[in-house]
Amino acid sequence: MSAPNRVPRHVALVMDGNGRWAKQRGLQRTEGHRKGEAALNDIVEGCIELGIPYLTAFVFSTENWRRSPDEVRFILGYSRKILRARRDLLHAQNVKIQWMGRRSRLWSSVSRELDDAAELTKNNTGVTLTMCMNYGGRAEIADAAAAIARDVAAGVLKPNKVDEDLFARYLAQPELPDVDLFLRTSGEQRISNFLLWQSAFAEFVFDDTLFPDFDRSHLRRAVEAYGNRERRFGAEAPISLG
Ligand code: FPP
Repeated sequence: MSAPNRVPRHVALVMDGNGRWAKQRGLQRTEGHRKGEAALNDIVEGCIELGIPYLTAFVFSTENWRRSPDEVRFILGYSRKILRARRDLLHAQNVKIQWMGRRSRLWSSVSRELDDAAELTKNNTGVTLTMCMNYGGRAEIADAAAAIARDVAAGVLKPNKVDEDLFARYLAQPELPDVDLFLRTSGEQRISNFLLWQSAFAEFVFDDTLFPDFDRSHLRRAVEAYGNRERRFGAEAPISLG
């Protein structure tokens, strides 16, 4: 199979449709999340094959606390289990795992697993997989603004130094490049507070497939659609950034 002509550097993935997938089959919503986890592994392998260096996955949002206590417990507990079970394989695949999201409220046992996986894989040079847990784009931006305000108040930062480049250095994972391809499954066409700052110039691809049925072949199709887009970044003529 030939490689697509233009591959995004950073793919943002909203893994939507787990609940509907389960409902269609008369299963518990949690079964959809289990199947979704397998789909995410396939997408990581797809990124390795396609040469996509950054994949950022929306696992649990600051808004997901509104779900039933049982579902919240399942997603957090399952994430903790999966991180432990999968980290050696991801490490062997040269995947660098990192995470972002608010530590407050997140179970400390989950943030510990995330920290351990990040520590184990920190020197890997393959795909960077960023897991977003208790993450919200507005929360990330508000937290950056608060950190800037603290530095200004402490006298270590001058207000006139605050510009877009400086602001971006206060985000949760400052080395993450801008999102090139923002991909959402299940036919929903919303950002849902994901990577608001980083997606300012992203191309959006919405795929109707429910996430548990999504695999690397769908990723490849999305990358091909991305490759056929003209990216202008506000300019008059297309700008080619790869
Ligand atoms: C969206 O589907 C999915 C989530 C909110 C959870 C995502 C979690 C996983 C894929 C579990 C994997 C865990 C790890 C650590 C990778 P939905 O529940 O909103 O589906 P619906 O819109 O059909 O109800």
